[in-house]
Amino acid sequence: MQIQDILYSQGFGTRRVCAGLVQQGFVTVNGVPCSESAADFDPEGLQFTVQGKPWSYHEKAYILLHKPAGTECSQKPSTYPSIYTLLPAPLRQRPQKGPVQGVQAVGRLDQDTTGLLLLTDDGKFIHRMSSPRHHVPKVYEVTTKHPLDDTQVQKLLSGVVLDDDPKPVKAAACEAVDAHHLRLTLTEGKYHQVKRMLAAVGNRVEGLHRSRIGGLELSDDLAPGQWRWLGPEDLALICG
Ligand code: URA
Repeated sequence: MQIQDILYSQGFGTRRVCAGLVQQGFVTVNGVPCSESAADFDPEGLQFTVQGKPWSYHEKAYILLHKPAGTECSQKPSTYPSIYTLLPAPLRQRPQKGPVQGVQAVGRLDQDTTGLLLLTDDGKFIHRMSSPRHHVPKVYEVTTKHPLDDTQVQKLLSGVVLDDDPKPVKAAACEAVDAHHLRLTLTEGKYHQVKRMLAAVGNRVEGLHRSRIGGLELSDDLAPGQWRWLGPEDLALICG
């Protein structure tokens, strides 16, 4: 694949911009300067720099973001900064077939929710993860306003009715870690589901953090606002 096409596929700008970046000497490939825009490389595992910034080739981008509080999962946020401002420009500019460029969040978290958020430019992956048939468990650490008791836990496990659907929604797992800390596992993703489920049992969410999706855990070394690439072994933990 030509280096100009590799840069284009990774989100470094239009084809013309990418050819220009190479020809002007702004690119190194595997540590060696490359100014020939048509130079051919095997993209798999390719490490390159653009204007000194290192990048590694990924045919598809799968990203884990530690979402901080006070950010919106929208491209056009209304009140708080968008989570997309936390990502480098190439991830936001990767060319896509549709009108929206770059990686997209897989589902949304509320502005005040923190924790594990997936983003990708793989439309099939988003579709699979969002399909109701694909019950990927998501684990939430919930801080509650009122003390938890066994009745609340049992109700969440046996099912509560929310205002938009007569069919009860159940927690796949639910455990009171301490008086104000509930660990709740859900396999669906309805609007404000955790907050509405807690309200349905007479409690209130004061803090919400997603700690796990499938077998993929948010590790302590990724601070709020930081992101990392997901590899095949991470994806296997999510998709099984
Ligand atoms: N449930 C909620 O209520 N909010 C979230 O952000 C995620 C799940």
